[in-house]
Amino acid sequence: MRSLIDILDFSVEELDEMLKTACDIIENPAKYSEACKGKKLATLFFEPSTRTRLSFEAAMYELGGNVISVASADSSSASKGESVADTAKVISCYADIMAMRHPKEGAALVAANNASIPVINAGDGGHCHPTQTLADLLTIYREKGSLNNITVGFCGDLKFGRTVHSLINALSRYTGIKIVLISPDELKLPSYVLKDTIVKNGIAYEETHDLEAAMPELDILYMTRVQRERFFNEEDYLRLKDSYILTPDKLNNAKAEMCILHPLPRVNEISVAIDKDPRACYFKQVFNGKIMRMALILKLLKEAQA
Ligand code: NCD
Repeated sequence: MRSLIDILDFSVEELDEMLKTACDIIENPAKYSEACKGKKLATLFFEPSTRTRLSFEAAMYELGGNVISVASADSSSASKGESVADTAKVISCYADIMAMRHPKEGAALVAANNASIPVINAGDGGHCHPTQTLADLLTIYREKGSLNNITVGFCGDLKFGRTVHSLINALSRYTGIKIVLISPDELKLPSYVLKDTIVKNGIAYEETHDLEAAMPELDILYMTRVQRERFFNEEDYLRLKDSYILTPDKLNNAKAEMCILHPLPRVNEISVAIDKDPRACYFKQVFNGKIMRMALILKLLKEAQA
């Protein structure tokens, strides 16, 4: 059974195919409005979410399907001690496909190993978030026309930011990519991502603390929130939370056609004054996330039926 646990589960050709489907959905939404009629998506969110869960649900409704949902760990049997494996077996009896977010790294993989329906990882702890990457890829593709030959700056919490890890994995398979890692020392990219993805694939990269110095070369600036829920103590969070705040003056040296992305939620990292700047693409990214989740649900359900 095909699932999406890590963005590397899909080949570049499959991602290209999904980007094409997404563009077709945007142009011809009516063509897809009954594509999942009679199918059920279960969303299981054992960690807070607004966008991702509602995006999956909106995606399924726009495909003419139905949704059943667990919106928090406290309201589910997880609070009684049920294992992820058992939950996955149970949900397989109710739904045709499931999306799961869980605070533990590897939880979605355990679910996929035990489910008899496709499982989508909607975020597993500080590890991966492949469907946010789908949103990011569609946004870069629509804004830049290509996923090759771009310099991408990642700024903020590169240690715990799972969206950063997944997008770096995805970009590692395109050509002409340069990655600029902008963070305080304490929030640097984990060495396993740096070594196993960036270095191993021979991708050009730089590490710096200085956002403004890095700005002029960036085609994409990917801002992130400092992931408070993954810190071991509040003092460290308070010290690091405002490490980078993007304000209009900091864009003085940026390319006129640079794209600013953020997986959201935004806390303080991007001043609201930036929202009016044509380079701000983070709300377009939200829309693109719903469309790519539609393309993903279509793909996985089609493969499950084959
Ligand atoms: C991200 C996440 O959950 O990792 N949010 C999202 O799904 N768009 C980013 C974040 O929480 O900072």
